[in-house]
Amino acid sequence: MSLHTKSRFGLKILGICTRRLLNYRYASQCSGGEIDSEVLNEMEDGYKRLAASDSKSLLKKHLTQEIFDKLKSKTTPHFKSTLLHCINSGLCNHDSGVGVYAPDPEAYTVFADLFDPLIEDYHKGFCKTAKHPEASYGQGSDFENLDPEGKYIVSTRVRCGRSIKGFPFNPCLTEFEYHELQCLISSALNNLCGEHKGKFYPLTGMDPAVQKQLIDDHFLFKEGDRFLAAAGASRFWPTGRGIFHNEAKTFLVWCNEEDHMRIISMEKGGDLGKVYDRMIAGVEALAEQLDFSRDERLGNLTFCPTNLGTSIRASVHIKLPNLTKNPKDLQKLADEYNLQVRGTHGEHSEAKGGVHDISNLRRMGLTEQETIKEMHDGIRALIAAEGKTK
Ligand code: ARG
Repeated sequence: MSLHTKSRFGLKILGICTRRLLNYRYASQCSGGEIDSEVLNEMEDGYKRLAASDSKSLLKKHLTQEIFDKLKSKTTPHFKSTLLHCINSGLCNHDSGVGVYAPDPEAYTVFADLFDPLIEDYHKGFCKTAKHPEASYGQGSDFENLDPEGKYIVSTRVRCGRSIKGFPFNPCLTEFEYHELQCLISSALNNLCGEHKGKFYPLTGMDPAVQKQLIDDHFLFKEGDRFLAAAGASRFWPTGRGIFHNEAKTFLVWCNEEDHMRIISMEKGGDLGKVYDRMIAGVEALAEQLDFSRDERLGNLTFCPTNLGTSIRASVHIKLPNLTKNPKDLQKLADEYNLQVRGTHGEHSEAKGGVHDISNLRRMGLTEQETIKEMHDGIRALIAAEGKTK
C-alpha cells in the first residue's frame, strides 16, 4: 500500500473512531469498574485491524496479543481511563510513528506493560527500572553558534512541555477545567517581564487572518491534528486553547494544545545557546508561579510518552542540499546521532525547498544540558558531512 493510500485509509477509519470517541462521555467506557462490552468490542476490532496492517507504529510493535489481553479490562483508579483511551490514536491512524498517549498520569503505571517497552524503544534504552535524572540545565554559553556564517540554518527552536499538578491530560479534562487551566496559565504569563513580557491570545474569538499568519510563521499550532483528535485531545476545541508571545515573537507558550503548556524559544539563525537561555529563563519564571507535575521516575509528565523526561525538543530548520539528495544517507547519519528528521512544517509534513526540521529524538535518561548537547553535536556533524558531500 502506498503512503498516500495509507494515510487516506487512516483518515477513513479516523472518521469512525473519532466520532465514536468524541461521542463517549469520557468516563462512560466503563460502569461499576467493568468495561462496557461495546468498548471492548471496538478495542478487539481495532486491534485485529492493526495486527493485520503493515503499520510501522511502536504501538503495533509492542502491543502483543498477550499484553493486549492482560490490559484490555483495566482502568486507571481515579479517571477510569481504559486501554482504548491510550491506543485509539494508533488504532485509527496506522501511519502513526508511535500511536499511544496517556489519558491521565496514572495510565503510565496501570498500562506499564505497554508503555514501558515502548518508552525504552523510543528513548533508546530507558528501561523500566531506569530513573530520569534531576533537572540540570547547564547554560547557553555551553553551546556555540551552530552556523555563525548563516549558510545552513534558517532558524533554531527549543521547546519543552509542562503539565500543571492536579489536572489530568486532555482526554480527561472537563470544559470547566480547560477554562481553569487557561486562567491559571494566562495569569502567570501576563506577569512575565523583560524579554519575556508579552500578551496572551485565546483561540476563542481569534481573528482568522491573525490565526493563519501565526500558523504560517510556525508560531501557532495547527487545528485538527488527526492523531490528537483520535486520542481525545480536541474536545471542547477551541475552549481553553491559546497562545502567548513576547513582542519579538521569540518566546511563545502554547496553552492546552497537546500538553497544558508548551514553552518555546525561537529565532532566526543558529545561535542555540541564546535560544536555550531564553527558554530556561522563561521556564524558571513560570515555575515560580505554577506547580508543574513531575514524576520521580519519568521526569516531567506529558500526554505523549515521547515527551517525558526533559520534554525538550531542540530543533533547527536547516538546508542540507547535498545530503538531501540521498535521503537514506541523511537518515543514517541522523540515526547515528539520535536525531529526528521531520518536514518543514514539523511532524507528519514534507520538506519544502530542501528545508528539514531536525531535532534531538530522545528526552529521557539524560539531563536538559545533555539533551541539548546531543542535538548540538549531531547538527554539527551533519553540517560537517554536508560540506564534504557533493
Ligand atoms: N501520535 C503521533 C504518532 O504516533 C505523534 C507522536 C509524537 N509526537 C507528538 N507530538 N507527541 O505519529
